[in-house]
Amino acid sequence: MTEAGASAASLPPPRPERVAAARQAFVQALPTRRRLAGERRFDAAGATLVATLQSLYGNTDGFDDWLLALCGQLGQLGAHRPEPLSALDAKREAQPDWFVQQRMLGYSAYVDRFGGTLAGVAGRIDHLRALGVDYLHLLPFLRARAGDSDGGFAVASFEEVEPALGNMADLEQLTAKLREAGISLCADLVLNHVADDHAWAQAAMAGDAEKRAFFHLFPDRTLPDAYETTLGEVFPQAAPGNFSHVPALGVWVWTTFYPFQWDLNYAHPPVFAAMARAMLQLANRGVEVFRLDSAPFLWKRLGTACLNQPEVHTLLAALRACVALVAPAVLLKAEAIVPTEQVLAYFGEGALRGHECQLAYHSGLMSSAWAALAEGSAALPRQLLAQTPVPPAGSGWISYVRCHDDIVWSVLRPLVEARGEDFAQRIGRAAAFLEGRVAGSFARGAAFQAHDEHSVHGSNGMTASLVGLPDDPLAPIEPAALRRYALLHALALWVGAVPLLYMGDELGQPNLADPAEAARVARDGRWLQRPRLSAEALVLLAQQRGVPAATVGVLRALMSARRDPRWAAATAPTLVEHADPALLILRRGDDALGVFHFGHADLALDLATLGAGAGWSDAFSSGAAGGNAVRTLAPWATLWRFRSRGE
Ligand code: GLC
Repeated sequence: MTEAGASAASLPPPRPERVAAARQAFVQALPTRRRLAGERRFDAAGATLVATLQSLYGNTDGFDDWLLALCGQLGQLGAHRPEPLSALDAKREAQPDWFVQQRMLGYSAYVDRFGGTLAGVAGRIDHLRALGVDYLHLLPFLRARAGDSDGGFAVASFEEVEPALGNMADLEQLTAKLREAGISLCADLVLNHVADDHAWAQAAMAGDAEKRAFFHLFPDRTLPDAYETTLGEVFPQAAPGNFSHVPALGVWVWTTFYPFQWDLNYAHPPVFAAMARAMLQLANRGVEVFRLDSAPFLWKRLGTACLNQPEVHTLLAALRACVALVAPAVLLKAEAIVPTEQVLAYFGEGALRGHECQLAYHSGLMSSAWAALAEGSAALPRQLLAQTPVPPAGSGWISYVRCHDDIVWSVLRPLVEARGEDFAQRIGRAAAFLEGRVAGSFARGAAFQAHDEHSVHGSNGMTASLVGLPDDPLAPIEPAALRRYALLHALALWVGAVPLLYMGDELGQPNLADPAEAARVARDGRWLQRPRLSAEALVLLAQQRGVPAATVGVLRALMSARRDPRWAAATAPTLVEHADPALLILRRGDDALGVFHFGHADLALDLATLGAGAGWSDAFSSGAAGGNAVRTLAPWATLWRFRSRGE
């Protein structure tokens, strides 16, 4: 189905004259040598662009003029696309699922904590390549708000790099070096809000009526109070409520996150045009993937949680159409930390299936795996995977063990409540276990934004501290702790299209314990999992000693198994039923079987009953003793079996 056909079924089809005028505005702005490709791209994606924008903004004054100006702007951005990126566009258009076929391995890091500066990140390419990384997500590096900036998520300018990290020339040099090394750069596109010192917010505060329309401003508490009755809270302790008073304006502004992060008003067409431009300018500097930060929050509707509204998907499909016209090599990744059944919509639904984001975080899998580790039962990930449909062709999951944020528990609520169980009780127990508040727990995490020990919000901690690896990288390693580390990474590597390592986890770095940063951690507990890359751990890795050698050893073994052609990259994992609730068993194609044991006791497993006994061999094994028939799985054992060649 073409993009045009796809959109027509779900959104009112645009008038042919409107599409033709938009096409002309786009193509005319392209240089002659790019017009043929431009026409072809417009014929594939242009009708979706017009249909989605018309559905969002068709009733606003001057819509047609605005649309033509936008298409002209897209053409200009296409004209400025550098030649090497244009070549990449052509290559990837010929193979849209390139990132699935490539069996990518991702890595996520803060620029300052990883390489000091953007230029310093280039100095880490060897480390990334040695791990097999070919996708690097750098957390926000654009100019951030002065003072607290939520780790850069309060963007003060989309046109500048944060001065402490470098400048736009450094970014272009870095993307070129990464491309040469075969690594795609992913950057955050903080879509939902800007910093209160961004020029738009400053102009609004100075009384500029046009810029006031960029935000959701309210003269008094009437509407904010009405909205609040159905809204949740992201930071209930540190930033309660969703609106902040702005004394300079005498108004209330919508601030879903911190009071200094002003939500943008996407019902105002210039906001869309400005963000599309910001994105494509970065694409032209070599960014290959955009992490669409906080995507569910983009559209507000009274009487709802203002999450995942249909217009959010229309907006993202419109952004994707812009990418398809100007920079088709680029991927969009949804950061939608909501229950999995709601995340699926970010791949595009109905007639827009496959026309929204190519990637989305599988946060349900991540949180359920941590809960399973605490519960000693694979019940939650099994339940989740059993009910999760396969993403559309040419799209896939970002899987991960940890990231810079907390383990968000609310994504598991529907799974728990579907069983008639009490969410706060069940997940509260798992969280308490991971936070080391339960006797016998191996974990050293910490609660995030929980009012008291009975409320459940999120849990913080680096993987190593949560699985019980030692703080001292040269201290003896408890084999069970390394098995837990392997188990969670093995699951992420088995399920995802692009598994994402979190900086420091590869070296088994523990929670941030620097006294100089204690105040920061106290203000926002997520800094517990934001240490600097440890120079000591890198030395130990080079010397093949201690925790870093052990954890990297596990990851390398898993990666090498995952690269085997018998591990079917383009085939989604399927759940194999098993009577023992401690086991999660997944197939990947006909020739690969993964066994993940979450139980806290030894368990005997008959491989023959799974059809993976004789004629199969181990591709990865951790804590699975025995021969080809029956195995004794130690607690937290992982076993990957592949059909022997020629069988
Ligand atoms: C995303 C980021 C998080 C940030 C929030 C607001 O969820 O991952 O770190 O606080 O957006 O931008």
